[in-house]
Amino acid sequence: MRTLADGREMPAFGMGTLNLSENEVGELVRLAIQHGYRLFDTSPVYGNERAIGNALMECMQHGLVKREELFIVSKLWITDRNNAEDALKQSLKNLRLDHVDLYLVHYMTPDIVKDSLMVERVSMQEVWSQLEHLRERGLVRSIGVMNCPVIMYLEILTFCHKKPALNCIECHPYFTQEEAICFFKKFGCPIAAYAPIAPSENAKFGCASEKLKNLDLMKEPLIRELGQKYQKTEAQIILNWHMRQDHIVFPGMRAKEHFEKAIEIFEFELSKEDVERINKLNKDARFYDRIQDENYSFIPYWA
Ligand SMILES: NC(=O)c1ccc[n+]([C@@H]2O[C@H](COP(=O)([O-])OP(=O)(O)OC[C@H]3O[C@@H](n4cnc5c(N)ncnc54)[C@H](OP(=O)(O)O)[C@@H]3O)[C@@H](O)[C@H]2O)c1
Repeated sequence: MRTLADGREMPAFGMGTLNLSENEVGELVRLAIQHGYRLFDTSPVYGNERAIGNALMECMQHGLVKREELFIVSKLWITDRNNAEDALKQSLKNLRLDHVDLYLVHYMTPDIVKDSLMVERVSMQEVWSQLEHLRERGLVRSIGVMNCPVIMYLEILTFCHKKPALNCIECHPYFTQEEAICFFKKFGCPIAAYAPIAPSENAKFGCASEKLKNLDLMKEPLIRELGQKYQKTEAQIILNWHMRQDHIVFPGMRAKEHFEKAIEIFEFELSKEDVERINKLNKDARFYDRIQDENYSFIPYWA
């Protein structure tokens, strides 16, 4: 478990649901629950919250899990920032829940006026106070930020009544974000690392630049060497590297064996020296890099 900035506890490990279709996600959520997963990272823009909600409800009705054992994360998308309550209520309806455990602002950006992402002008303070209000009403238990750079986090601290419970940012051995993470930790803000494994599959997602497309952590000689040393798979080595730094992670998984293998990361511990060696793989390589996508013109404000 990890302690959030608001003092609440959150599982350190869970399942991500990006890129999982409505048709496949339900079965995977059921599989995850059977394997002991309790944390699920969702978002309305992933287009699958309804199927996730149905699977969660089914598992609860069959006595596989209780609501209070689950930790469900959802997010406020950019175009909904002027009406967080309606957006959250829609997510709750789809997820078949009366509250989510953590609600994140997907991108805490200033104004964006671009094609499909056309939004009204909403200040960060306004967005955050809507979330604080939702928390006071019990519709969300904790509130946090995502892709939030240091400068924006500092600004939030100037007006917030409740500090962000965590910051969820891209992080993996090719993109260690050491300086930023050190800063957030000093401020008592835990880190959830998205795209934690960053295999080449991510580069094919269409948001990575050409130079990143040949990077593949799973084939990295050091990761392979450590896999042999600890008798673990490459992914287990990478996930343990995250655990050793107190990150919260929720890898995306389709393959059945990945659900079983991931849980085994708690059965061993990389040495401090090996963690340091992995840190040196950093290439500041952001896989979810939409710098060429004009709909994401707020990139300078992205952590
Ligand atoms: N901006 C955002 O909002 C944002 C962006 C990115 C990610 N996220 C969140 O973070 C989650 C994870 O990110 P991601 O899916 O992009 O990247 P990821 O978790 O780093 O990588 C997913 C890939 O890792 C493979 N994998 C998982 N467990 C494995 C294991 N034990 N051994 C070998 N391979 C394994 C999966 O293979 P299989 O599918 O074959 O099992 C899949 O190809 C997302 O689902 C989402 O919840 C949020």
